[in-house]
Amino acid sequence: MKERIESLSKEIEVFTAESAEQLENFRIKMLGKKGLVTQLFEEFKNVSPELKREFGQVLNVLKNATQNKINELKEAVSGNNSDLQVGTDVTRPMPLSLGSRHPLSLVRNEIISIFSRIGFVVSEGPEIEDDWHNFSALNFPEEHPARDMQDTFFIDKQIALRTHTSSVQVRVMENSKPPIRTISPGRVYRNEAISARAHCQFHQVEGLYIDSQVSFADLKQTLLYFAKEMFGDKTQIRLRPSYFPFTEPSAEMDISCPFCEGKGCSICKGAGWVEILGCGMVDPNVLNNCKIDATKYSGFAFGMGIERITMLKYKINDLRLFFENDIRFLQQFKSVV
Ligand code: PHE
Repeated sequence: MKERIESLSKEIEVFTAESAEQLENFRIKMLGKKGLVTQLFEEFKNVSPELKREFGQVLNVLKNATQNKINELKEAVSGNNSDLQVGTDVTRPMPLSLGSRHPLSLVRNEIISIFSRIGFVVSEGPEIEDDWHNFSALNFPEEHPARDMQDTFFIDKQIALRTHTSSVQVRVMENSKPPIRTISPGRVYRNEAISARAHCQFHQVEGLYIDSQVSFADLKQTLLYFAKEMFGDKTQIRLRPSYFPFTEPSAEMDISCPFCEGKGCSICKGAGWVEILGCGMVDPNVLNNCKIDATKYSGFAFGMGIERITMLKYKINDLRLFFENDIRFLQQFKSVV
């Protein structure tokens, strides 16, 4: 018995396998029901009591060595299956296609990246907002039509789904001291009939910069930088006077049509310009509401719809596509970022 154990342990020691099949045959030969090692354990039952201890130990060592050998070789032969064995190209792309980001996420990330390069940090706030942060602090008069049930989803008299992310900027102003340079991306809600051009939910990025001596020229230069980064170096901007309760003066910004470079096409309806955002100098009332001294500090703010920018960037003509999650639409936006 001793000799058989010794010769078996040698055999096990030198054994190698090139395929999973060879390894399995080896396992059956040694540890299977009628395997050589198994047989030795059977015979061990008849060993005289004085020798049991000695043989028991040797047999256990043999069994463990066999099992370890099998485990070791298992790793070596896996991935060595017959069809992969020859000429496996480990650099070959995976057969599964990768997922893709939603176009709105792609554009939101790009906007964040553009503004972060000039020192803007991201701030976030709640989607369910109180009257103060969404309206009153932003200088909306009591009777302003935007507070009307037409535009706002009210939860009760004082609480509503935010209609813009300017509410986040009120929170930032209340909780920090100038200089403030922040952008607030997020989802907003308005009570609008759903169509190709309007939806009851959409996404915004609003920006705010407050410091001593911030001027309209700073606003204009910042927005020109953004427009060129987003739509290309040839892009021009145009500011038209407008009205928002929280900025004075206020403006709407157009960019030269990215499709016809200002010549006039169906996208810009022949105008050569397309509107992309609202902006202005923060009204001193707003600064004072947020405990920022309007005699010392001034600031600018702007706000844009991410859907609008995305539609222009990718030539998408129906807003509803963003929310339907049609895989044929989403698959077209391949990205790894
Ligand atoms: N809050 C405005 C909107 O939702 C956008 C805006 C932001 C305009 C900041 C001016 C300044 O339409």
